[in-house]
Amino acid sequence: QKYEYIVTSTPRPGVGQITLNRPKALNALCSPLMTELNAALRAFDRDESKSIGAVVLTGSDRAFAAGADIKEMKDLEFSSAYGRDFIKAWSELTEITLPIIAAVNGYALGGGCELAMMADIMYCGPKAVFGQPEIKLGVIPGAGGSQRLTRAIGKSKAMEIILTGKNFTAEEAEKWGLASKVFESPEACVNGALDTAEVIASYGRLAVKAGKEVVNQAYETGLAEGVKYERRIFHGLFASKDQKIGMTAFANKQKPEWSHE
Ligand code: HXC
Repeated sequence: QKYEYIVTSTPRPGVGQITLNRPKALNALCSPLMTELNAALRAFDRDESKSIGAVVLTGSDRAFAAGADIKEMKDLEFSSAYGRDFIKAWSELTEITLPIIAAVNGYALGGGCELAMMADIMYCGPKAVFGQPEIKLGVIPGAGGSQRLTRAIGKSKAMEIILTGKNFTAEEAEKWGLASKVFESPEACVNGALDTAEVIASYGRLAVKAGKEVVNQAYETGLAEGVKYERRIFHGLFASKDQKIGMTAFANKQKPEWSHE
């Protein structure tokens, strides 16, 4: 499939890559770009052959994404923002069941930072620049930034960032737990994301899907409820072929051949 604002590929076994590609606007996330991103994610997620096991989402060395498209947004009125539930389509990314690894280089501002935070794992390069500068435009984060940033780094730091609009660095993102790793170069960051995606894609799809589901549940519920939810999903995996395959292989000192069923 041909896209205008993104490039898709399968650079490693079981790994899909989506590269945001609107260089003249620093990957500003206009509506057609988001439509293409959602379509590409769905195509990887719903592939009947289950050939894809994880997705890497990245941008350019200069920008992961400099935010929602301000020029597209500037004349928007309340009635159509509310009436058409502006930005709701962005949440489609969170409905994808495959793990998504964001490899962030350069600017990840506003909606770009929010998009990266929607991913399951975040890696960044040494010159990544994060921030929620919406306050400078007279608005606030609108794609989950206030919720996800606060859960990730705590109330005081999230307040500082959202209320001052000040950017933060790759080192800070890593130190605060927003990103899991900083790499020494943009290439190393993308390669590191592909390496991790390849490892994930080497496992049974059902167990990976279940693992993602239960970690996300930790975000949504209290601990006791979350632990119970985890246990129920865990019980369910004993109805899968891959559980028998994996545990039998271990007991027989063999390498598992996953059925993805
Ligand atoms: C539309 C954008 C854009 C954006 C950059 N561009 N960011 N266009 N929306 N968010 C365009 C510029 O207008 C310019 O186009 C071109 O990309 C290059 O950008 P420059 O500003 O010339 O580059 P530079 O001087 O290097 O500055 C980079 C920058 C700056 C610091 C990232 O572009 C910037 O501040 N951008 C806006 C960041 C921002 O406020 N993001 C939050 C948006 S609000 P031309 O045509 O002039 O060459 C948001 C709301 C989310 O995301 C809520 C719901 C999702």
